[in-house]
Amino acid sequence: MNADVTVFDHPLITHKISLMRDENTSSKQFRELVEEIAMLMAYEVFRDLPLKTVKIRTPVAEADVKVLSCKDVAVVPILRAGLGMTSGILHLFPTAKVGHVGLYRDHETLQPHEYYCKLPEDIQNRQVIVVDPMLATGGSAVAAVNFLKARNCKDIKFMCLIAAPEGIRALSSAHPDVPLYCASLDERLNEHGYIVPGLGDAGDRIFGTK
Ligand code: PRP
Ligand code: URA
Repeated sequence: MNADVTVFDHPLITHKISLMRDENTSSKQFRELVEEIAMLMAYEVFRDLPLKTVKIRTPVAEADVKVLSCKDVAVVPILRAGLGMTSGILHLFPTAKVGHVGLYRDHETLQPHEYYCKLPEDIQNRQVIVVDPMLATGGSAVAAVNFLKARNCKDIKFMCLIAAPEGIRALSSAHPDVPLYCASLDERLNEHGYIVPGLGDAGDRIFGTK
């Protein structure tokens, strides 16, 4: 089991997650919150990025300044709901490439089914962050990381908004090398595989499909 699980406790993130949970929150507000929280989380997730020193001239003097010296980033949203988090991360990494993994969860079996996978050609050389608001049984996250490892990706992180203990166990045991970040660790799954208390169906709430 991977011990590398971070549950964020920043009050701004916690507050925004609470707003998302409210069933009266509109799709517009919900989408904005997903984007904002993803940006706030990514800020922390990438706090250890390496820096290197370069020489520049300010208008006043020559100076040694520090700039990022990390591998390029690829953001990989799990469709559909992961799309909502992507723009938040792109605000921080405007040059990141974006790969898409399309998975939907069968309502009866809860098993993930692939319908799309398009990744940047150089994905194996990139630092990859897989994003999906919900980690429920963990089946979709495990399948997405399987695709990335099949493409030789070595440096993968997983970021979600709400996780169930079941999903954390599944992802951590299938991929113990993948650090996992979530904004809330909820109680459990219900008999339909929904996170309790959760926020309902993230894709439907982002895109207003129900
Ligand atoms: C939701 C969610 C995750 C998945 C989590 O997607 O966005 O991808 O379920 O469940 P799991 O951990 O049990 O696999 P869904 O399959 O509903 O598709 P959607 O994003 O198209 O709505
Ligand atoms: N997918 C969702 O969108 N919500 C859940 O609670 C579980 C899976």
